Amino acid sequence: PTLKIAVYPGDGIGPEVTAEAVRVLQAVAALEADLRLELTTLPWGIEYWQTHGSVVPPDFLAQVRPFDAILLGAVGWPALLPDHETLSPLVQIRQAFDQYACMRPAKLYRGLKSVLAGKGPDEIDFVVLRENSEGEYVDNGGRMKRGTPDEFAVQTAVHTRKGVERILRYGFEMARKRRKKLTMVTKSNAQRYAYVLWDEVLEELAPQYSDIQSERQHCDACAMNFVRWPEKFDVVVASNLFGDLLTDLGGVLAGGLGLAPSTNTNPEKKFPSMFEPVHGSAPDIAGRGIANPIAAVLSTAMLLDHVDQPTAAQRVRTAVEQTLLQGSATPDLGGKLTTQQMGEAVLKNIR
Ligand code: NAI
Ligand code: MG
Repeated sequence: PTLKIAVYPGDGIGPEVTAEAVRVLQAVAALEADLRLELTTLPWGIEYWQTHGSVVPPDFLAQVRPFDAILLGAVGWPALLPDHETLSPLVQIRQAFDQYACMRPAKLYRGLKSVLAGKGPDEIDFVVLRENSEGEYVDNGGRMKRGTPDEFAVQTAVHTRKGVERILRYGFEMARKRRKKLTMVTKSNAQRYAYVLWDEVLEELAPQYSDIQSERQHCDACAMNFVRWPEKFDVVVASNLFGDLLTDLGGVLAGGLGLAPSTNTNPEKKFPSMFEPVHGSAPDIAGRGIANPIAAVLSTAMLLDHVDQPTAAQRVRTAVEQTLLQGSATPDLGGKLTTQQMGEAVLKNIR
């Protein structure tokens, strides 16, 4: 097939890491007999805003719609433009294209150190599946009596039965292809409406997936357990907020933000899905060519899996594994390689 991919490098280190991800993507595609890539770069972000007055064109959703997938670098440059403006198109893409499943693996590659530094297990390999479309991040609330001593703010989360059910089903299906264990994270001991709904939906679904061992943990306990025994987790399903919190922790458990890939998936494939590193635009190191491109590279593996190219996806992961085992490292991993040199090290291992 011909894959039409929108490449949205964005700001800061976004373009630096995306350039390496694209090289890797092209190299693995060249090894597949029946795979052609059609890449289109979307020059959106801060520079676009400087000439056009907005970070994306008004019809950006329509422009992105026809692609098979979107490969995003990172956006944001808070010194020039408030984050909510630069990040707003991303939120709109996630919502307009119903990308309700955010998948963030925490896999510790051999040869790397977890933040647990020798006190943890040698093997960490779990996936956090974050509900990406509703919950605590719906734009619903308000502020009253502003500026007075009686000021108050209300921000309401919305959890729908449909939304909870579809993310849990997706989690069960994923567990089936992995180690057959699902942990659902809530706080139903303290919040008795929303998360009790989660509990009930899990109870209804579990018998339909009797081959999967399912359990519940409260978010506070889960955070502790990530640190105490990360090896016990396989698929972790969490609401939008809890998934957001837990994936930063998952990221450092598995070697750091420079390595952590992620997806914004529309599992039904009615719309394009978006693949991006977990990290942001890192203004503190942008322009120096020292960002770690591995998170972006591993995001292309997740993209390839999603578009039914598992062989190509595996080539990317194997090459990354080899590269890290050989000790290739950017400064965040304690090495001296530049972003480009790290990309080249991966390219050399692609076969
Ligand atoms: P960040 O992830 O950009 O940086 C956090 C720290 O990790 C920094 O010290 C940075 O140097 C380091 N880091 C991140 N990625 C790295 C890499 N690949 N290699 C080596 N070191 C790396 O988070 P921060 O500083 O909170 O946000 C910076 C900007 O990025 C903000 O404008 C924020 O809104 C935006 N952002 C955008 C996201 C997106 O595009 N999806 C996601 C997260 C943040
Ligand atoms: Mg986050």
